[in-house]
Amino acid sequence: MNRTALPRYQQIAAALAAQLDHGDYPPGSRLPAVRQLAAAHGVNTLTALAAYRLLEQQQRVEARPRAGFFAAAPAGSIAPRRSDPALPLPSTAALVDLNSRMSTLLLLADDRIPLQLHMAEAAPALYPSTELARRLQQTLARQPELIGAHLPGNTQRRLTSALQQLAQQRGMALRADDILPCHGITEAISLALRHLTRPGDTVAVETPVYFGLLQTLQGLGLKVLEIPCTADAGLSLEALEFALRHGPAVKCLVCVPNYQNPTGGLMPDDNKRALLQLARRHGITIVEDDVFGDLYYGNERPTPIKAWDRDGEVIYCSSFTKSYAPSFRLGWFSGGRHHQALARLQASSTLTVSPLLQAVLAEVLESGDYQRTSQRIRQQLAAQMHATADAVLRHFPKGTRVRKPQGGMLLWLECPPGSDTTQLLQQALPAGISFAPGVVFSAEPRFDHCLRLSCGQPFTPALDAALATLGRLLALQLARCKDVPAASFPPR
Ligand SMILES: Cc1ncc(COP(=O)(O)O)c(C=O)c1O
Repeated sequence: MNRTALPRYQQIAAALAAQLDHGDYPPGSRLPAVRQLAAAHGVNTLTALAAYRLLEQQQRVEARPRAGFFAAAPAGSIAPRRSDPALPLPSTAALVDLNSRMSTLLLLADDRIPLQLHMAEAAPALYPSTELARRLQQTLARQPELIGAHLPGNTQRRLTSALQQLAQQRGMALRADDILPCHGITEAISLALRHLTRPGDTVAVETPVYFGLLQTLQGLGLKVLEIPCTADAGLSLEALEFALRHGPAVKCLVCVPNYQNPTGGLMPDDNKRALLQLARRHGITIVEDDVFGDLYYGNERPTPIKAWDRDGEVIYCSSFTKSYAPSFRLGWFSGGRHHQALARLQASSTLTVSPLLQAVLAEVLESGDYQRTSQRIRQQLAAQMHATADAVLRHFPKGTRVRKPQGGMLLWLECPPGSDTTQLLQQALPAGISFAPGVVFSAEPRFDHCLRLSCGQPFTPALDAALATLGRLLALQLARCKDVPAASFPPR
C-alpha cells in the first residue's frame, strides 16, 4: 500500500509498528516521548499523540499515567496482570493438580514475563480490532435497542442463517435450526458432557490433550481414557478400537481432528470416516472440537467429521475465539440428535449469548469480512509457525523433535530423553519466558519431556533470543543430568 496516501498520524503509527515488529523496542520498554516523536517526524504533538492512540487501540503500545507510552507485551488475549514486583513469580508446582492447571497457567499472564508462549493465543494485534470496533459502533448506531435486548430473537435467526452458510462451505448440510451460538467451545463441550454423561462415567480423549478439557472432565466427576494421538495423523484409531473392545465402557469421545491441541495433528479424511463408523459400531457419540479448523495454512480448509455424519451422532463445536475475535467469546454448536436437549441445557445455564455481539458477528459473516480477515490471519500464523519451528531446530539441543503442523498456532516439541520441562519452565520464568510444559497435557506423567509453544506472536529478534535462552537452559539441564551417577537415581 502507498503509505503517503494515509493520514500523517497513521504513517507514523505504521513506522512505529514496523519498529516494534522488528524488536527495536522490546516488550515493556519505554517508547519516545510524544514531543520526541513529533520532532522526529516533523509534526505537531497532537499528530504524534494520535499515532500513539491508534497503536494503543491496536494494543501495540500501552499508556501508563504520567510515565508515557511503552511497548505492549506480546501476551495473548488476556492482558498481563500488573504485578507487585515484591511478589514471587508463579510457581509451577500447582501444575500437577488437574484442577488448578488452567488457573496456574492463567497466572503466567504477568507483566514480568514479556515473552508469553504458554497459552493457545495469538497477539492481540493479529486480530481486526479497529475494523471490529467500527462495526460495533455502526451496529449500535443502527440498532441502539440491542443494548436493552434481553433475548436475541431475530438477530439470532440472522446469525444462524449466516452460520448455516459457513457450515455449508465446510461440507456440512445443516439447517439454521440445528445451530446455536454459545460462549466459545468451552460452553458447548460442557453442555455436551453434562447431557451425555453422569459422574463416574468414562470419556475418551486424545493424549496429549488440551488441559482445559481435563479440568472440565475433572469438574464433572468423569473418568478419562486417554487415547494416543500423533502430530502426523491425530488420534490413533487402532488404540481407540482396542480400548473400546477391552477397556471400560465409554460414554463419548471428545476429539480435535483439525490441528489438535497440543500436537497440531490433522486427522486424514479416511480416518475421520473410519472413526465415525467405529463410534457408530460401539454406540458412542463424538463431540467434535473444531476450534482451529479455520486456521489452515494450505489452500483448503479441513473437513469436519460432522460432514459425514448421517445419524446425528456427532456434536459439532466451533468458535471464533482463535480465528477472529477472542474477546467476543463467541462459538456455535450443532448437536445432531442431541440438539434439542443441549438447547434446553443451555437455556437453563447461560440462557443465551449477547444479542449485540451476535448482531456484529452476523454482519461480519454476511459482509465477507470474516473470510477476508481470516485469510490474512492464516498467512501470518503460517509465517510465524515456520520461523518459530526453524528457530527451535537451531537453538534446542540435538535430539529435540518438532513436526510443523499444517494449521493452528501451536508447536509441540519432544525434547531429548531426560528433559524435565516443568523444571525448565521454573528456570525460564525469571528470564521472562513462559511456555506450557508437557506435564499439563495428560493425567499421567507421560509428557514430562515435551513442551508446547504458542506461535501466535510475531517472530522478532527478541523471540529468537528467548528461544535461544530456552535451548541453552535445556542443554544445561541435560548436561547436569548426565553428570549425576546413575546409582544416585532412586531405584525404580
Ligand atoms: C482444543 C481447544 N478446545 C477449546 C478451546 C477453548 O475454546 P473457546 O475459546 O472457543 O472456548 C481451546 C482453547 O485453547 C482449545 O485449545
